[in-house]
Amino acid sequence: MSKLISVLVLYLCFDLAHQYRGQSRSIADKEWDFLIFTQQWPSSMCKVWTHNKPKHHCVFPKKADSWTVHGIWPTKKGTKGPFNCNTTWLFDPEQVRPIESELEQAWTNIEKETSLYNLWAHEWNKHGTCAAMIEPLNSQLKYFSKGIDFLNQYHMNDILTSANIVPSDTNPVKAEEVSATVASKIGVRPFIACEFEDGVQYLIELRVCFDKQLNLKECEGEHEVNGVLTNCNIAKNIIYPTALPPANLQIVQLHKFINWLQWFTL
Ligand SMILES: *[C@@H]1O[C@H](CO)[C@@H](O)[C@H](O)[C@H]1NC(C)=O
Repeated sequence: MSKLISVLVLYLCFDLAHQYRGQSRSIADKEWDFLIFTQQWPSSMCKVWTHNKPKHHCVFPKKADSWTVHGIWPTKKGTKGPFNCNTTWLFDPEQVRPIESELEQAWTNIEKETSLYNLWAHEWNKHGTCAAMIEPLNSQLKYFSKGIDFLNQYHMNDILTSANIVPSDTNPVKAEEVSATVASKIGVRPFIACEFEDGVQYLIELRVCFDKQLNLKECEGEHEVNGVLTNCNIAKNIIYPTALPPANLQIVQLHKFINWLQWFTL
């Protein structure tokens, strides 16, 4: 009998310890070490959004050839996230009303068929609620304003054009050159993200990191090839696509039209 009781007590202890561990883990799960600030190239995002979806259209910032903010992502070293740190503190457009028109240009939701607030709601609910753990980012207005500040401070348009790295649908860019250019301007290498669509590799994002004091630092734990932090295949062409439909596409279409006209009038 006493044996049974000690087994039972032992079991309860284990169970309690387990529950306690679960609790402390869920708090630890919300902790993070640094922020990833991600800028996106709207034209590449548009290719992803419209790929095989003829009903999808894109919204571009007024300055169509401008990099925009994707998000500020708190990250624990060696992992992704944490995410969704406060599921009751949802995005509220009223909170960013004072900077809404700026946000539309700097933090543009490319996906025309979704609500204007779609991207901001996603970024705040998933990442902002975790970023809010530090004072400079502890409100929706602060989080989104910081994105605009970071963009103005580390604008990839200025950085890339200074080295003559410009969008082109025919001349690919070199990841090593993009990396070296950013490093020479701001002192840290960026993470270079690519996306494949129909066998073409597009430059889609450039990310830099910040510590909790919001000092720039190199992103940790990223995949590195030949000194470049990237998920791109650096042995293959990387296209940094132009913002407007390429002129030669219009010429091809004109050519097809003339062919058709010739056939029609024969
Ligand atoms: C979640 O956010 C709300 C609104 O800001 C706040 O009152 C609450 O304390 C937060 N909860 C946690 C667990 O941080």
